[in-house]
Amino acid sequence: MISSGARRGLSLLRDTVRRITTSSCVKSDALFVHRDTPEDNPDIPFEFTPENKKRIEAIMAIYPEGHKRGALIPILDLAQRQHGWLPISAMHKVAEILDLPNMRVYEVATFYTMFLRKPTGKYHIQVCTTTPCWLRGSDEILEVCKQKLGIGVGETTKDGKFTISEVECLGACVNAPMMAVNDDYYEDLTAKDTEQILQECAEGKTPPPGPRNGRFAAEPAGGLTSLKEEPKGPGFGLQPGL
Ligand code: FES
Repeated sequence: MISSGARRGLSLLRDTVRRITTSSCVKSDALFVHRDTPEDNPDIPFEFTPENKKRIEAIMAIYPEGHKRGALIPILDLAQRQHGWLPISAMHKVAEILDLPNMRVYEVATFYTMFLRKPTGKYHIQVCTTTPCWLRGSDEILEVCKQKLGIGVGETTKDGKFTISEVECLGACVNAPMMAVNDDYYEDLTAKDTEQILQECAEGKTPPPGPRNGRFAAEPAGGLTSLKEEPKGPGFGLQPGL
């Protein structure tokens, strides 16, 4: 026989476990469900421009019959580039073009963070805060962005020009700290560089992308440390008889 105290204990434990296993993730700057809003609902028509329709034909021609769904990501990307972000009506249009259920498109658009499912500024500032960038001062870079633009992470300025996102590694760790502005990478940043880049964007200019500390790419900042001699050329090290 199990005592009533033990029973109460078991019931409490069961409730606690259930709470842990069924609790949903509430801390995310991107909603994984769609909520209709005045600017994003299925009643707002979406159509590709004539130029993009030609691009879609070219993309789809790459994929053989029966595998056209492989064009899903490039066409979603095209829709986003045309509109600035990816509304639900654009997803429906892509589903229609590829003859897919809407759900297949939602699955992809909600999985990849490159798809922006809410209105996003003309300049999408993505600050990497993963460990290498963090060790090299990404906190300060993010703070400069917030102060200069007067918005927080996940927010867009009132004039619709800038959106700030905090992102995981963008693959340029050797040039940390870095941030991306739309498709361009800005690397080896200081607070002053960051401010200058944002200022130039605000003035409608395109700041030159790449490292800001004089490096050409990802070579050692203090000059080469290996592979300093001229390459030996073809045949080096082979036996003379060969
Ligand atoms: S950690 Fe920032 S780019 Fe990799």
